[in-house]
Amino acid sequence: MKTRSSLSFLKVLTIFTFLFSSLVFLPYSWAAGALVPLPPNPDIPSGNLETPQKVLLGKTLFFDPNLSANGRISCASCHVPSRGYADPRPVSIGVGGKHGTRNASSALNAAYFSRQFWDGRAGSLEEQAIGPLTNPVEMANTSNRSVVRRLEKKAHYRRAFQEVFGGPVSIDRIAKAIAAYERTLVTPMSAYDQFMMGNKSALTPQEKRGFALFKGKGRCVLCHNGALLSDQGYHNLGVSGSKDVGRYAISHDPVDKGRFRTPGLRNVALTAPYMHDGSVKTLMDVVEFYNQGGGKSAYPKDALLIPLHLSKSDERDLVAFLNALTGETKHEMSMK
Ligand code: HEC
Ligand code: HEC
Repeated sequence: MKTRSSLSFLKVLTIFTFLFSSLVFLPYSWAAGALVPLPPNPDIPSGNLETPQKVLLGKTLFFDPNLSANGRISCASCHVPSRGYADPRPVSIGVGGKHGTRNASSALNAAYFSRQFWDGRAGSLEEQAIGPLTNPVEMANTSNRSVVRRLEKKAHYRRAFQEVFGGPVSIDRIAKAIAAYERTLVTPMSAYDQFMMGNKSALTPQEKRGFALFKGKGRCVLCHNGALLSDQGYHNLGVSGSKDVGRYAISHDPVDKGRFRTPGLRNVALTAPYMHDGSVKTLMDVVEFYNQGGGKSAYPKDALLIPLHLSKSDERDLVAFLNALTGETKHEMSMK
């Protein structure tokens, strides 16, 4: 009896060891989010309920250059609707022609991210929206108060804030209205989403081959997963030799040197150039970068990156798949 039970214990142990090691070596990490279609709506925080009037006010603010110190730069100057609400320039240019150091991320589907920015420094869209106003290389206002004062001078804003919030213009209310608008900037129903919802002909044979590479030999899914095709984690790929310390500037944890938040890949066909500094021009260039195992870095590079040995036609298939991630944009977003 005794030997039998210890034998079966050994068996169980072996099975567990096998299961555990297969989990570790599976190409698709189980800790990661499953590949699922984009939910139709992001969560709405209880502190900022959505009304059509609030969304409209937020949209007006998003497109209003009066939010900047020189009256020339709106949110939409760097988050260009026809370019997937991202910036076609490698790094954004703010008031007075000042250059930033980072490529503007798309404001599309930003509402689904738990933290904002390449380094995750803002926690919510409300918190994020205040940042650009006083950023010296963006809207360059000397204080939040100066923005409020400028908007207060306009009767249409005084009226709209009263109507939506029952009170005067304030920085928090500006942020809330913009965030409410941003929560409507969602792009469901890409060919990929339709495929994931069961329409097997939504992807072309080439896009399907690309998807298989994405989940398999290309290893993309290790970091690009979940509804956004982002693990919302931080990784160092060695982009531009990792000159920018990235997440480290926020966390001060040495392991974060050179790490950036995995961007979502939705609408990526519209948002060239790529990476945190806009240093990579096309999707084909991105795929070639990964095929080589990423770039060079003074800090430890992510261990998940290895040379992929993809053929030219594999690379083209992967790019075709990335092009199938462009979602439907609502009519209301077409305003320039
Ligand atoms: C001068 C250009 C510029 C202006 C103006 C600007 N942004 Fe940005 N925006 C950027 C850049 C660059 C980033 C990325 C910065 C980073 O991650 O460090 C960014 C990031 C964002 C993100 C984060 C998206 C994500 O996935 O993390 C959102 C949302 C956003 N901006 C919204 C706005 C709003 C709202 C306004 C207007 C109040 C605005 N931006 C004004 C350049 C700009
Ligand atoms: C180790 C995690 C990891 C793996 C594996 C990975 N990525 Fe990425 N991806 C990232 C991170 C992090 C960035 C941003 C890096 C930066 O800017 O420094 C990024 C950026 C991108 C971008 C640019 C998006 C933009 O908005 O600028 C594309 C496109 C992309 N990856 C596609 C892929 C494809 C295709 C694969 C597979 C061949 C892949 N990724 C594999 C983590 C990863």
